[in-house]
Order: sequence, then C-alpha cells, then structure tokens
Amino acid sequence: PPPPRPPRGSLIVLEGLDRSGKTSQCARLVSHLQDKEGLPVEAWRFPDRTTCVGSMIAAYLANQSQLDDRAIHLLFSANRWEKRVLMESKLKSGTSLVVDRYSYSGVAFSAAKGLDIEWCKAPEVGLIAPDLVLFLDVPPEKAAERGGYGTERYEQLEFQKEVAKHYNLLRDPTWEVVDGSLPLEAVEEQIRRLTMDSIVTCQKGKPLANLWL
Ligand code: TMP
Repeated sequence: PPPPRPPRGSLIVLEGLDRSGKTSQCARLVSHLQDKEGLPVEAWRFPDRTTCVGSMIAAYLANQSQLDDRAIHLLFSANRWEKRVLMESKLKSGTSLVVDRYSYSGVAFSAAKGLDIEWCKAPEVGLIAPDLVLFLDVPPEKAAERGGYGTERYEQLEFQKEVAKHYNLLRDPTWEVVDGSLPLEAVEEQIRRLTMDSIVTCQKGKPLANLWL
C-alpha cells in the first residue's frame, strides 16, 4: 500500500494597502508558527523578485522601465504562475505557506488604473485558491502617515485610495478583515488565531481549490 500522505499545508494570504503592516505581520506569524507551534511553514511573497519575470517587475516598480498597463499586469500574473507547481507540491507535502500579497493585489492594483476587473481576473483563473485571506484594513490616509511611503511607483496616496476601492469590490464573505489600526500585538493575536483555525481545517482534509471561487 502507498505510504500515508501527510496532512496538507494551508495557503494563507495577507493582503492590504502599501504600509498596512502586512510584511511585519507575515514575518511575525511565520516565526510564531515555526518556533512556538513547531509547524512546517514558509514565508512567500509576490511579486517574487528573484525570478527573471520578477526582475522585470522590480525594474518597473522602481520606475526604471515603462510598460503598458496590461503588459505589467500579465507579468505579475506570470510571476504567480511560475511558482504554482512548487506551491502545490509544498502544500501537498504538508508545508503551510504564508504569502505576502497574491492575486487580489494583482487585480486591485491594475483595476485601480482603470483596467476592467474581469479582464484582470482572467489570467488568475486556475491558480491555487487561498485557504485563508487576511485583509489588513487600514485607511489610506493612516497608511500614508506611517513612516511615509518609499519611492516605488504605486506609493502615492491618491492611487492607494483607488486601490482601497477595488479591494472593497473584491472582498467577499470568506475574507477575514483585521483592523490594521489596532496595536501590532492585537493584530498579531487575531492573525494567529485565524491561521491556526485554517491550518487545522486543512489538516482535516479540506481539498485544495482553484481561483476564482
Ligand atoms: P510589495 O511592496 O509588497 O513588494 O509589492 C510591490 C508593489 O506591487 C505594491 O505596490 C503592490 C504591487 N502589486 C501589483 O500591482 N500587482 C501584483 O500582482 C502584486 C503581487 C503587487
């Protein structure tokens, strides 16, 4: 008989505006799960700037190259597709992934430029659906006050307001919205609890699904 399969890992996605606290929360969550819970987990992020496609995205974000809005949209999507096989094998082998941004960033940021939302979703269809979407909710004005934006392409208040509108259009009842204005520890506590629930549900045999749900 084939050896028993390990329980699968959970795909946890954190989304939110620039400066919403996602990146720090991802790091804190991953060390908690590894060190305190002893779980197999990896930190991932999109864009993944380490691939060839990722280096084109990095140049675009740094304003070192100009690209048509649709062309850069498809590069962000391709950057997720090139990681799909690895993502699936990690999850199936029992490793949970904590991912800083995913398809929702892809759609919210491109649609904020005026692209049609359905057109933006189309290339994402068939990617692995997250088991948990944690949306860190911070008003754009408040995010802008936090240590200021850097110099990357999208880090401007007016544009972030448009992105916020489009995140609201994408939000569905399965998302867990966490108030990102709360103290860091309170946000962390909620994120830990929701993540542990998701990991347990996946261990119990919840099947993997594809976007869009
Ligand atoms: P980062 O700051 O999380 O590395 O993301 C870089 C920028 O890229 C951020 O402003 C959000 C944007 N973005 C998209 O426009 N489309 C995408 O698919 C992703 C993942 C990020």
